[in-house]
Amino acid sequence: MCGIIAYTGRDEAAPILLKGLKSLEYRGYDSAGIAVLNAEPHVSITKTPGRVEELERKVASENITGTSGIGHTRWATHGIVNEANAHPHTSCGSELVLVHNGIVENYLELRAELLDAGHKFTSETDSEIIVHLIESHMKDGASLEDATRRAAKRIRGAAAIVVATAGDPGRIVGLRLGNAGGIVVGIGKTGMVMASDLLAVLPHTRTVAYLDSGEMAIITPDTASFHDLDGGVIEKATIESDRSAEAAERGSFRHFMLKEIHEQAESTASAMRGRVDFENETVSLPDFPFSEEEIRRLDQVIIVGMGTSFHSAMMGAYMIEELVGIPARAENASEFRYRSPVLDENTLVVAVTQSGETADTLAAMEAARDGGAKQIAVCETEGSQATRMADGSLLIRAGQEIGVASTKTMTNTIVVLHLLALHLGRIRGSLGDETVADAVRELAALPGKVGDLLAAESTYEAIARRLATKRHLLYLGRGVMFPAALEGALKMKEIAYIHAEGYAAGEMKHGAIALISDLMPTIALAPAGPLREKMVSNVNEVKARGGEVIAVATEGDTMLPAVADEVIYLPPASVQMSAILSLVPMQLLAYYTALQLELDPDKPRNLAKTVTVE
Ligand code: M6R
Repeated sequence: MCGIIAYTGRDEAAPILLKGLKSLEYRGYDSAGIAVLNAEPHVSITKTPGRVEELERKVASENITGTSGIGHTRWATHGIVNEANAHPHTSCGSELVLVHNGIVENYLELRAELLDAGHKFTSETDSEIIVHLIESHMKDGASLEDATRRAAKRIRGAAAIVVATAGDPGRIVGLRLGNAGGIVVGIGKTGMVMASDLLAVLPHTRTVAYLDSGEMAIITPDTASFHDLDGGVIEKATIESDRSAEAAERGSFRHFMLKEIHEQAESTASAMRGRVDFENETVSLPDFPFSEEEIRRLDQVIIVGMGTSFHSAMMGAYMIEELVGIPARAENASEFRYRSPVLDENTLVVAVTQSGETADTLAAMEAARDGGAKQIAVCETEGSQATRMADGSLLIRAGQEIGVASTKTMTNTIVVLHLLALHLGRIRGSLGDETVADAVRELAALPGKVGDLLAAESTYEAIARRLATKRHLLYLGRGVMFPAALEGALKMKEIAYIHAEGYAAGEMKHGAIALISDLMPTIALAPAGPLREKMVSNVNEVKARGGEVIAVATEGDTMLPAVADEVIYLPPASVQMSAILSLVPMQLLAYYTALQLELDPDKPRNLAKTVTVE
């Protein structure tokens, strides 16, 4: 949710912190702030509600010097969006500065205790509790790191914390408790960095280490050391990241979201590299962690995720059930974690999460592990908590996604889930060589077809102009197109703020049909496939009640153009590939509708890219 950055080294800290915050801003953009420390000793704190751009203007008008500092971009949980609630927070004596990501669940009780002890609070946040707790332990003579450890033992809830003190400006402490988002430590040549996200570390160094829950990092300009909550030293291996910092650049695109939509032709190909053998027309997943014998013993697959990743999970479940012939279902991770699912070692749990840090999905993974299931993560972010918890990971290789609305990561996730279905089906014998070969030929054509859809961008823009005048939309789909309908509706809700319902088309006449009128257009996902005729009937039902219909059909369809008001064409493809292809027009419809309404699709209100709180 929130983004955290810290730097200590030989360069001026303020520009480094601001640059880091810009690349972390997609995690939260309610307010932003930095604290810069220098040897005088002096701490300069600059904060503002709103964007990092605003913070940058404020910092430019001040004369801030110092080669250590911490910064934060906030997604508000406790306390309204204002300057007082922006991080960094300070202790009563103002010598301690702290940024926090997560929720202190027992903050009311701790706040009352600290107030009784004479602490003065300047914000309504739960985060401020932590800096006062650390202050009270330091007053008892504890060092910064010991006081932080002691404070950590008092707070309930997941947290990522970074804290520094004016008394020792070159020393910064970072701590991870549970799954409130990670902390990546970057070991640079001219300084050390800590951040919520690799992207903010990459401009300095590719040598990084990830904190696990219960681990602390202490950085100074020349050293980084790692400790447990009892103060013991941890020998932590560093890794060399092969990621590029360019992902944080928009290039010539107006928005990250548009850039990422356009990257899909290339990114889908990347998901297949080394997994699809186009010459021999077969699929295998060298990174799948379980043996052929274990695969043959599987008796159910459960795919968990949240939001868009839940929709990907639903599509994946359709594909696995159809191609592998074993029970497969998608579960919303926030529900799954509190159920009593029946699991054993023959259950495969697939956690779908592009960030690898979504709190509910990680909790679902814990439940799966406790139930003895096998589990894999389908994830973008190597080194994230999900990839470290799973028995193995299938990386989706979409490249870093900055736009809050998921686009290319969903498309790549579904490609990977489709490959998983083919891999399992081939090994279990539910798919013959010829079926796999057909699927490989379809996959080979996918990037080109995505490119063709992108070339028809002006069509979606024209339809978006009409949709932008509406307040309600209905998205209908059947089978594997049902999650595509849910995703189309989600994209429209999140970036254009239009009420949009995704519905299983067969369910419509059991209630939602009452909403049909000229005020609520229907987007009917009806490409070629076994359920197309059923969809045509649903389109007729909408039309018969005065509803406007935009149909998504396969090129060459002669029936839908006769009944629908508008048709968006997909290139001919199998129903599974059509589900993937249909996402591109859905994304562009939402994007252009948001632009019509003069909204910023990259930073939709109230949302954060990575949801690290429950
Ligand atoms: O990082 P994850 O894939 O676990 O994120 C889950 C959801 O928060 C995410 O898919 C969200 O729904 C999308 N960004 C919305 O476009």
